[in-house]
Amino acid sequence: MAPENLRIETPKGIIYIEGPMDASALEKLEMNENLNNFRPSEKQKDAIIGITKLDKGMVYIARKDQEIIGYLTFHPMDDFTRWYKHPKIIEMGCIEMCPTWRNFKIGEKLMQTAFSNKVLDDCIVLTMEYSWHWDLKNSNLTIWQYQEMLTHIFAKVDLHKTTTNDPEIMEHPANVLMARIGKNISPEEVALFESLRFC
Ligand SMILES: CC(C)(COP(=O)(O)OP(=O)(O)OC[C@H]1O[C@@H](n2cnc3c(N)ncnc32)[C@H](O)[C@@H]1OP(=O)(O)O)[C@@H](O)C(=O)NCCC(=O)NCCS
Repeated sequence: MAPENLRIETPKGIIYIEGPMDASALEKLEMNENLNNFRPSEKQKDAIIGITKLDKGMVYIARKDQEIIGYLTFHPMDDFTRWYKHPKIIEMGCIEMCPTWRNFKIGEKLMQTAFSNKVLDDCIVLTMEYSWHWDLKNSNLTIWQYQEMLTHIFAKVDLHKTTTNDPEIMEHPANVLMARIGKNISPEEVALFESLRFC
């Protein structure tokens, strides 16, 4: 399938939303140095290039000229998690927008573009929202406002809060598991997911 390429106008210029990217295309681009919420930007660039090489790995970007100003990743579940037992579950890993490019709805467009990929109709997409990853400093939000902001944006692509006793989610009361069940997922596959939520 050809990668998506969406042109959007923002008050700060034209942005392109692109993906799924391949490694060589990402290597040619600069990574904005402020994309450092999860790790230093250069290391994060290496990490997202690595994701493109994984089975089921996908990376979408927001690009201004030759610079990546935001990205969204999907990858297979780690094999030590309970979710790995489900063949149809994949994880939406990170979404990050440069602090100076936030609140222009680019994050929303990135997700809408990625979730229009029919591959995800055959998947259960999970996102593990751990509050220790959230950028409270740049957002000026409280931890609960931040959770509300994320669940609000993620709901736009049908990711919804889902209860679980996964110990990592339960480690902090603001952590949240969100899930989107693709339209081609069978009742048996839903039942297997349900059985994994509390085990
Ligand atoms: C999460 C993130 C990607 C959002 O990107 P963005 O481009 O700023 O998002 P958008 O502009 O598309 O949407 C922002 C939405 O949040 C809403 N919002 C902002 N503050 C809010 C609050 N206190 N409560 C509820 N919603 C809020 C905005 O109104 C907007 O929603 P709307 O379009 O319905 O008006 C960005 O904040 C980011 O990179 N954060 C750091 C990394 C991170 O925390 N990633 C998530 C964990 S992996």
